[in-house]
Amino acid sequence: MSISAASRAVFLILITVVVVDAATAQGRATPNTQLASKDIDTRVEALLKQMTIEEKIGQTVQYSAGFATGPSASNLTYDELVAKGQVGSMLNVVGAERTNHYQHIAMEKSRLHIPILFGLDIIHGHRTTFPVPLAVAASWDPEAAETVARVAAEEARADGIAWVFSPMVDIARDPRWGRIIESNGEDPYLSSALARAWVKGYQQDDLSKPGSVAACVKHFAAYGAAIAGRDYNAVDMSELTLRQVYLKPYHAAVDAGAATVMTSFNSINGVPGTADPLTLTQILRKEWRFDGFVVSDWGAVAELKNHSIGDGPTVARKALMAGTDMDMEGDLYGTVLAAQVRSGKIPESVVDEAVRRILRVKFALGLFDHPYTNVGPAYSPTPERREAARRVADETMVLLKNDPVEGVGSLLPLTAKTKTVALIGPMADDARDLLGAWTVTGSPKDVITLKTALSERLGDKLLYAPGCGLLAGEDENVLMSVTFAGGAASVDQSVADDDKTITEAVDTARKADVAILALGEPTNWMEGEASSRVHLGFTGNQEKLLEAVVATGKPVILVVLAGRPLQLKWADEHVPAILEAWSPGIEAGPAVADVLFGDVNPSGKLPSSFPRAVGQEPLYYAQTATGRPARGELNRMPRNAAEKFVSRYMDEENSALFPFGWGLSYTRFSYAKPTVDRAEIPVREVADNHQPVATVSVDVRNIGSVAGTEVVQLYIRNTEASVEQPVRELKGFTRVTLAPGEMKHVTFPLGFDELNFYGVDLKKTVEPTTYNIWVGGSSLAIAETSLMIAE
Ligand code: BGC
Repeated sequence: MSISAASRAVFLILITVVVVDAATAQGRATPNTQLASKDIDTRVEALLKQMTIEEKIGQTVQYSAGFATGPSASNLTYDELVAKGQVGSMLNVVGAERTNHYQHIAMEKSRLHIPILFGLDIIHGHRTTFPVPLAVAASWDPEAAETVARVAAEEARADGIAWVFSPMVDIARDPRWGRIIESNGEDPYLSSALARAWVKGYQQDDLSKPGSVAACVKHFAAYGAAIAGRDYNAVDMSELTLRQVYLKPYHAAVDAGAATVMTSFNSINGVPGTADPLTLTQILRKEWRFDGFVVSDWGAVAELKNHSIGDGPTVARKALMAGTDMDMEGDLYGTVLAAQVRSGKIPESVVDEAVRRILRVKFALGLFDHPYTNVGPAYSPTPERREAARRVADETMVLLKNDPVEGVGSLLPLTAKTKTVALIGPMADDARDLLGAWTVTGSPKDVITLKTALSERLGDKLLYAPGCGLLAGEDENVLMSVTFAGGAASVDQSVADDDKTITEAVDTARKADVAILALGEPTNWMEGEASSRVHLGFTGNQEKLLEAVVATGKPVILVVLAGRPLQLKWADEHVPAILEAWSPGIEAGPAVADVLFGDVNPSGKLPSSFPRAVGQEPLYYAQTATGRPARGELNRMPRNAAEKFVSRYMDEENSALFPFGWGLSYTRFSYAKPTVDRAEIPVREVADNHQPVATVSVDVRNIGSVAGTEVVQLYIRNTEASVEQPVRELKGFTRVTLAPGEMKHVTFPLGFDELNFYGVDLKKTVEPTTYNIWVGGSSLAIAETSLMIAE
């Protein structure tokens, strides 16, 4: 089912009506009640009355007056524009000195003294850099996300930034897409829970509170579904899937009160996201009652020309009319809208409504009353914030594998018996890459590397060899010398001759009892935006290094430090212990050491499926069924027609190497058979009642010898729906900490929210059916029960 061109045309015509309606309504029922307050409305209307058309359009203009985070950047003299009231917002201006500079001009020299709203990409912490968002998602702990956002917000506000371009809640089911690092992974339920937490952490449910910043939910919509995992590429999907899967986390964030939304670069079913009335007006404004403002992505209004939907004035008009209120670093609204308003092509009421939305957020943030920041220049993370960064990083670690080694037992956790440890690999002492991609103010100087942390624990029992570079040969120099700030990053030339350094690493491994390999991906331009990859193995000569060290016969522990699921098939076949440590931020070394030495029992679970081969992508657990499901062994050629003519690959298994929800512990947990308190529920009771109607219970016991935390996960399958449903869908999770031998009774509510799906009419529905229900420690959960929904 596709979104019809005709329905989009109708929305376009209706937009004027819609925006005027919204403007006149009082006491609006919106998710963020603060933005709809009468007091703010009164102040906004009083100001709007005094504004010229140029001043109004000025509010819709955002410039980057620092470094560039996109391909083209304006090179204007901003002081004058700000003084004329022709700039409403700026990005990439950081710190008290720089933000106050422009703010003083706006407040003192512009006619109406409207403050500038400074925005910045604060993705996983500001000065205190936490693990990357995909790692935070691996904690399955909304409180961890809230902590990251809270600390970031306080630090941002001190630096004059009142608006963060986060959270990114694009569902990401394809690790070829580099921006998976910024996401919460593949699942709408998990991502929605985290989206709410990020927004709460940034906004504290009150934008006027000290240390609150406005969140910006991005990228609306469905950016993560870019065809073939290539960044900026088109998205083509049914409206059913859009609503059933992709829109959910954005909606959760809007419901949690997110004050702003950013458009996406991609088109959706042929309509570019920045000029899409269906998503920006019909869904966001009308259905979700979003009352904040929408900013384009960087240059995305001007880039509409490349989408071939018109010349400059036309695309600016289309974007504004569709619901994009602010033009980020595009320089188009500022130059082409006024004439179209004067000629009547754009109703002034549309501009007024965009300005209202922007001013509302500025008033709610208290910018008119407190436009400046008094905090001095850049500062380092405090001990308390470092501690928070470590605790969050501890929770993000996913133990993928810990098989016993003959004559040694499990390699992890390391014990006092371990005499000498060889730490090998280019990530072991690489502060820049351990920090993680997409940090504007985070500093490698604040990073405690694995080498530093392990040598603190092991002293001269630690041997070290970098082994190789993250990239091979010249590429490394080229890539590493490009940074967002345009400056040159330092390149460690000493690791350029990989053959020599791999030999040295092998010698080092031979001298030790155990080798820890710290391998990954260079974050600078290989992860994050514009960093799609078709090969998902370790970059450069790292695979060669791994194979060479494994060939020594020494027991190997692999620590993977990367912001996307990598292809770990060879490693899985040859390495007994694998820890996924992501990009952990400033406390990288201590957090990895916490888990390696067992001070922290790993509890992270994968928010993304890890593939066996790139050809499986997009790979995710919640696939819909096929008429010819593959059963049994797929790791060999078919023996008969029943094994051949099924939905399978001939050269690889269907399943993930490490599935969604997967993660081991140093203890083991057992699950009793789950139960539901009601065997059968009338469908009307579920449909009419948005409260839970049943409770699933399960007893979970720690059957090992150390305390541990399990993420208990609940999955359902609707077996008789009118629209084909996923073979499994996450509908509940909770973290449970258990002492050895301890048992806890865990319960999950089920009601309309968990059981509904979108029908062919694109409305949420529940129908008579049976739900299969599984509870366990991953998407492979086997403890099963069921619930019947009767006529
Ligand atoms: C990215 C956004 C980001 C913006 C501002 C764009 O290139 O897609 O996620 O917020 O730049 O830096």
